[in-house]
Amino acid sequence: MVGIAQANVVHDVDEKSHRETILGLPFDRMTIVPLGEAMQGRAAAIFAAAHPHRTAEFAAATTLGARRWAAVDGDVVGYAASWRVNGEKYRIDIVVDEAHRKRGFGGKLLDHVIAASANVRSLQARPVAADAIAFLEKRGFTETMRMHHLVLKLAEARQGDLLQLMDRLAGDGIAIVTLADFSARSKNALAEYIDVVEAARDGWPEPDPDLPGESPTPVDWAAVVRLADNTHALVAEQRGRLVGFTSGLGTGVRPDMRGRGIATALKIAAIDAAIARGETTMKSATGHPAMRHINTKLGFREELCEVRMVRRIRSALP
Ligand SMILES: CC(C)(COP(=O)(O)OP(=O)(O)OC[C@H]1O[C@@H](n2cnc3c(N)ncnc32)[C@H](O)[C@@H]1OP(=O)(O)O)[C@@H](O)C(=O)NCCC(=O)NCCS
Repeated sequence: MVGIAQANVVHDVDEKSHRETILGLPFDRMTIVPLGEAMQGRAAAIFAAAHPHRTAEFAAATTLGARRWAAVDGDVVGYAASWRVNGEKYRIDIVVDEAHRKRGFGGKLLDHVIAASANVRSLQARPVAADAIAFLEKRGFTETMRMHHLVLKLAEARQGDLLQLMDRLAGDGIAIVTLADFSARSKNALAEYIDVVEAARDGWPEPDPDLPGESPTPVDWAAVVRLADNTHALVAEQRGRLVGFTSGLGTGVRPDMRGRGIATALKIAAIDAAIARGETTMKSATGHPAMRHINTKLGFREELCEVRMVRRIRSALP
């Protein structure tokens, strides 16, 4: 028994000095440092364990211009990131390794991010787990909306019952076509697409809304469209004018054209196209009750729900 215990101690010491060598930081004192190259693998694993649906975002964080930190206690025990979304509105991630929770590391990481947030109006977090939601509530974050993540097994899609909808829309001169097809026929396709995306923003649930009396944060819609995944974008076209779309930007319909089945038709066409490409599942995320209703009607099932929570750091600059 003694021999085994001693062997473990020797192993722990080796492990400790190995990690100290890699990270250059001691055990027994949590320190927050900029995320270094050698810490990335461990931080990525901590992030992925907490947010399995967002794994790819860890690598993408640098392209978003995120500032990233590690909480280190001999090894990486936590990770934080902060990046600008629009104007002075920022997004954050705070994740503590499950084995190191309830020791105040999350609060210290958050304090660190806030201290580094000069010129920031608000911080938005997107927790899923109940303990993460409670952690943020205690620290002044309030819920702004819920984003429901849904998945559809394409073999179980229920779009067949709704095909007569396409005939009804055709009677109103509305057709669902690919954005690529529309672009090949229209001179101002990009401007039209940007215009319908911007128009559909009316009523779109906003995760970080401006407060009453604040001037609205301007949005560069051309940039939003340029950065989105439009590979399989579909649009609803009525006599040359775009009235709706479904793409990496979500699904939207011009306010004056809502309630006629256009979003339903767009999603049916998107499902058909995914089946034709040989795909087996389709994902969707929405905070809009009508869109959630449509998705459920078509056979999507909820996978998880992200609560969008915002903490104001200061009021808008005049
Ligand atoms: C959500 C949106 C795309 C719906 O477009 P639409 O063309 O009006 O949708 P449809 O006419 O195809 O279908 C609407 C369905 O939602 C239902 N609905 C409407 N309001 C609802 C609500 N508050 N709660 C639940 N269901 C609702 C309607 O009854 C209808 O269902 P039914 O056909 O079974 O009766 C449109 O409102 C929009 O562009 N909103 C802003 C953008 C947005 O938030 N998009 C979602 C983010 S991905």
